[in-house]
Amino acid sequence: MRAPEIRQKFLDYFISRGHSQLPSSPLVSDDPTLLLTNAGMNQFKPVFLGEVTPASPRATTVQKCVRTVDIENVGRTTRHVTFFEMLGNFSFGDYFKPEVISYAWEVLTEVYQLPPDRLWVTVYLDDDEAVEVWRRIGVPADRIQRLGWADNYWSMGVPGPCGPSSEICYDRGPAYGEPGGPAVNDERYLELWNLVFMQNIRGEGGDKDGFAVVGELPRRNIDTGLGLDRLAIILQDVESITQTDLLAPTFEVVEDLVGRRFPGHDGTEASVSYQVVVDHARTIAFLIADGVLPSNEGSGYVLRRLMRRAIRHAQSLGVTDLVLPTITTSVVDNLARGVAGTGIGEVADRAGQRP
Ligand code: SER
Repeated sequence: MRAPEIRQKFLDYFISRGHSQLPSSPLVSDDPTLLLTNAGMNQFKPVFLGEVTPASPRATTVQKCVRTVDIENVGRTTRHVTFFEMLGNFSFGDYFKPEVISYAWEVLTEVYQLPPDRLWVTVYLDDDEAVEVWRRIGVPADRIQRLGWADNYWSMGVPGPCGPSSEICYDRGPAYGEPGGPAVNDERYLELWNLVFMQNIRGEGGDKDGFAVVGELPRRNIDTGLGLDRLAIILQDVESITQTDLLAPTFEVVEDLVGRRFPGHDGTEASVSYQVVVDHARTIAFLIADGVLPSNEGSGYVLRRLMRRAIRHAQSLGVTDLVLPTITTSVVDNLARGVAGTGIGEVADRAGQRP
């Protein structure tokens, strides 16, 4: 299943269940605790905190996100990128745990037809209610794992909204490593979807490495994020996140520049470099389209770092020509063709308006 269809099926499912489709927010965040948009829920922080009343109690989005915390893993694991799209459904004081778990299960097993016996779930340590809901749905006890706040507690900013979460992971099989579930192997048990039960307020201090829950939000909310790029790995049966149709056309451009085919995700430095160039080119295109320019601070510094890394990895593949204009243009062309109407394609229009 191609990416445009994956996006549309997600949106259609949640729109038919009363969610309003809202646009992706820009990558440049106006939240002082955040440099760049890194999750679908960012734009709803004031709603969760009770500062803003939403137009509708249910929303769905396709959110563009940049996360560079795992930048060194790009090309080394099969699952890390610096830019990705997050498919999300949100409840603002409306439905809660049982409903969101049922929705997610139905979307994965019926809309996308993933085999139920390949799905594992994690829940926050003391979240017996989530375990009970998963058991009722039919997930066997030995495929439900309890993890601590570092894995199964989401927060945005201090102070900010937070809550326990439940993640759904897909078992890619023994070719990707040892058994034992997501608690022991992130590469084999690929995290696809994070369901956050957004109900608390995070404050300063705390005994969990600086994590303190200091109160309750005015209402109980739901924030979910399903990684489009990761779901595409499974639905397109490719090995690495860089090999999905979201990035394949850019790969071809890089291969032409290098003059050799991509060797596949084989752990060699050349393999890593191909994937870094392709991944970073997409992130660079999106950042510039959203108004970021290279500089030595803030989001401009993130962009400059990505550009330097992309150029360095292209050079290590033997490319001596100017590399970024050609590759980022291919990213924009691909977007203009593939994703019009989701809010993501607007990047192509905006990029086209720039000198
Ligand atoms: N905020 C959560 C995440 O980004 C769920 O959307 O994973």
